[in-house]
Amino acid sequence: MICNNITVQNGILHFAGQDTTKLAEKYGTPLYLMDEDKIREKCRAYKHAFEKNFGPSAQPLYASKACCFKRIYEIMKEEGMGIDVVSSGEIYTALKAGFDLSQAYFHSNNKTDADISYAIENGIGYFVADNIEEVKAVEAEAARRGITQKLLLRLTPGIDPHTYEAVATGKVDSKFGTAIETGQAIEITKFTLEQPHVELVGFHCHVGSQVFEEDIFERAAVVMLEFIAEVKETLSYTVPMLDLGGGYGVRYVESDPYLDIETKVSQVAEAIKSACTRLGIDVPEIHMEPGRSIVADAGMTLYTVGTVKKIPGYKNYVSIDGGMTDNPRFALYGSSYTCFLANKMDEANDFECSVVGRCCESGDIIQEHVMMPASVGRNDIVAVCTTGAYNYTMASNYNRVGRPPVVMLSGGDSYVAVRRESLEDLCRNDL
Ligand code: LLP
Repeated sequence: MICNNITVQNGILHFAGQDTTKLAEKYGTPLYLMDEDKIREKCRAYKHAFEKNFGPSAQPLYASKACCFKRIYEIMKEEGMGIDVVSSGEIYTALKAGFDLSQAYFHSNNKTDADISYAIENGIGYFVADNIEEVKAVEAEAARRGITQKLLLRLTPGIDPHTYEAVATGKVDSKFGTAIETGQAIEITKFTLEQPHVELVGFHCHVGSQVFEEDIFERAAVVMLEFIAEVKETLSYTVPMLDLGGGYGVRYVESDPYLDIETKVSQVAEAIKSACTRLGIDVPEIHMEPGRSIVADAGMTLYTVGTVKKIPGYKNYVSIDGGMTDNPRFALYGSSYTCFLANKMDEANDFECSVVGRCCESGDIIQEHVMMPASVGRNDIVAVCTTGAYNYTMASNYNRVGRPPVVMLSGGDSYVAVRRESLEDLCRNDL
């Protein structure tokens, strides 16, 4: 199985040790399941790897965009994680969960003045400024309030992570960050150091997401450390912090490799230590911002089959009661997923089909070339694995379809963390 929280017992798919057909019956479908114990296990793996390799001050930050609701922030708080937030909405949700914002890093490439003011008002720990405009805007707001705001600068190290285009962000021509190669990074650093109400505490980079390539993080770290050394040399200032972003890939299908967090973090640590020795600089306080690798395989989505359409000589469709509204990733990126017929796991998978959604759009596809038992039919349960990241957070109400609930699984129990959107919810803003 692609993850060790997926098992089969008596022909039924189990997730986090629980019978998926019973969960579908209890909570209805479509249904997002989240394995809380797996989320905690991943946080602990990162925490442990960071402490071992970089000491106690090196904190992993959870990238909220991967999966964001109140309960997630409570878990992050309990696990001692920092967080990466990108909007007033994520900040609001974290506050509602009682998360201490001094451990929050505010990203995004275009924070509005209202976002900046809201974040400072609520005691955000750090801004990660994308560009010079943002440094100016944060300086202005901090000056207005008579405070000094801690800030990191997001730089583009000029590295191609070899992932899909939509999530490659470290290249020089990216919409994110300020490029080192063009000389703009040294300019923005100089400018930031001259501002009286912001304190430059670090540099940040994020090269991309769903990254498997061997040494991408090591190469990015070395470019960033060389820049830290250049700043020390030319501006006589040593930034104390380096945040290497997120991006480790996860297994969506059997052919995807498995990345061991502890091994990956220790490889990055090795590269950092040897580069620092070569450059004659102290090892900075290291941060990373994993999102997908913390929550992706903690998630599974359950659907009920409706129509099964066979077009002889062409193709077969298995239609489910959700679709691109709860998982737009195939429509957007052609992403791979592993699908199972959860209630017929002991039957042979000899029927090829496309698993498609219920939206009025041909591109509403969850996955193509899926093998299922030939008996697949109405009221069977389809499970789509590894949906914990960028599914719930990217869901929409297209066709006025309500978002599914999020049910957490822990220690053999289950509970609702986000309730199902009702028909009334869908009209709540209509006047
Ligand atoms: N830090 C920054 C600044 C980021 O932009 C991201 C992701 C992360 C951390 C977390 O990266 P992760 O560890 O999750 O790969 N919607 C796309 C993914 C977009 C990723 C955006 N940034 C998808 O569904 O594949």
